[in-house]
Amino acid sequence: MNATTIQPAQGRLGVLLPGMGAVTSTFIAGMAMHRQGLGDMVGSLTQMQTLRLGKRYEGRRPLIKDFVPLADTNDLVFGGWDIFPDSMYETALNAGVFPAATIEPVRDALSEISPMPAVFDPNYVRRLDGPHVKRAATKWDLARMLMDDIEAFKQAHNLDRVVMVWCGSTEVYQEEAVVHSSVETLEQGLKANDPGIPPSMIYAYAAVKLGIPYANGAPNLSGDVPAMVELANETKTPISGKDFKTGQTLMKTVLAPGLHARMLGLQGWYSTNILGNRDGEVLDDPGSFEAKEKSKMSVLDSILEPSLYPALYGDYAHKVRIDYYPPRGDAKEGWDNIDIFGWMGMPMQIKINFLCRDSILAAPIVLDLALFLDLAKRAELSGIQEWLSFYFKSPQHRADLTPQHDLFKQHLKLENTLRVLMGEEVLDHAGLDYYDDEKGRSIKGEPPRRLERKSETESEARS
Ligand SMILES: NC(=O)c1ccc[n+]([C@@H]2O[C@H](COP(=O)([O-])OP(=O)(O)OC[C@H]3O[C@@H](n4cnc5c(N)ncnc54)[C@H](O)[C@@H]3O)[C@@H](O)[C@H]2O)c1
Repeated sequence: MNATTIQPAQGRLGVLLPGMGAVTSTFIAGMAMHRQGLGDMVGSLTQMQTLRLGKRYEGRRPLIKDFVPLADTNDLVFGGWDIFPDSMYETALNAGVFPAATIEPVRDALSEISPMPAVFDPNYVRRLDGPHVKRAATKWDLARMLMDDIEAFKQAHNLDRVVMVWCGSTEVYQEEAVVHSSVETLEQGLKANDPGIPPSMIYAYAAVKLGIPYANGAPNLSGDVPAMVELANETKTPISGKDFKTGQTLMKTVLAPGLHARMLGLQGWYSTNILGNRDGEVLDDPGSFEAKEKSKMSVLDSILEPSLYPALYGDYAHKVRIDYYPPRGDAKEGWDNIDIFGWMGMPMQIKINFLCRDSILAAPIVLDLALFLDLAKRAELSGIQEWLSFYFKSPQHRADLTPQHDLFKQHLKLENTLRVLMGEEVLDHAGLDYYDDEKGRSIKGEPPRRLERKSETESEARS
């Protein structure tokens, strides 16, 4: 297989983050801590995972970052927008994900990073309002202002490339509409202030128009409409989304494939969460919750395939609840009650109590998406990057395909994409050839036993 030509990751990479709250500050604080040798980038595939190449006996297991030409994490420069002007130090302190003493050594680095004024409209995030916002007559003008910000940021930091990852609040649920159907209708809509275009879509438009890779960490439509896919293909820009897969949904997409693989039935799955950060406050609004709920609900059907297995999964109940409970801050707690059934329909139960930290799980996703999208751009991949489904609750996919939610299939897809890009053999894990006698001889340098037996049998027959 021939390797794809990938431009080298020379120079500095700007990582622009619309929405500089808990996730963004946890990500940037972690990167600063790592630069000072104060912690590892746990949870990041690009930094910590190895990839098997070739046959198992070859022992080739490079780190992903040594195998594919990724940007060096020391070459990353961070920036973004928020409706509050607080520096990343103040935000990290308020978010309380890391204890104050933990971030004290990186105080100066974090204090230097402050958001640019945001494109924001409280009609799309009803529980929020803030002073640090841009004003203009049209959404088109706002998009131009964002593009100016991006160019100025590039100049100021002497950047070679930029990527954008949306880490802003979850906007109210919106259905796809005519304004999203083509670049032409979208651009007309921007000029006419069409209500179908939320702020997140204005950021996505600004990025993709400039050829800047865009990932969406929230469930908003944002980059996931035909107009944006068309624009991405036109400007040769990789895009991906939606909604970082952390916490409870991560656990769901780990466990459900196991039940499905063993053909165990499901009667019901009840999930509830409490969280007390600003994300929780925003999701307390029914409009924003609806967007999140749709994103969280979609995973089980696609993994369990009820239409193929009606007896096992044709009639299960699925409920998802999120409750805003301020004392918890970012330390979310999730409970799952799973009613399953086995042999002769006998019922069983699984209970999960996950005490997680949302932003700790999301931060490595932001890093990996930034690095992989930059890789994709240099490899001249454009449009929807389905191989990054691994990171999302609602993976963006071609309209006529079903999305892949199973974490393990998503992982294999990601790994195989990297292998293909680098001209390595795709792994199917069948492994039958290990037991092929011809191959056995070449592996071990021993005569293949079955062939010997066969020739003995043949000589017996002849005699
Ligand atoms: N933390 C997780 O594990 C996780 C998982 C999946 C998805 N998400 C999503 O990621 C996003 C960020 O999560 P968080 O915990 O950091 O939330 P957060 O509330 O702490 O941060 C979001 C920030 O976005 C800002 N914002 C809102 N609208 C904006 C706009 N138009 N322009 C610029 N800034 C804007 C808010 O002021 C806030 O500071 C949310 O949409 C959340 O649902 C988070």
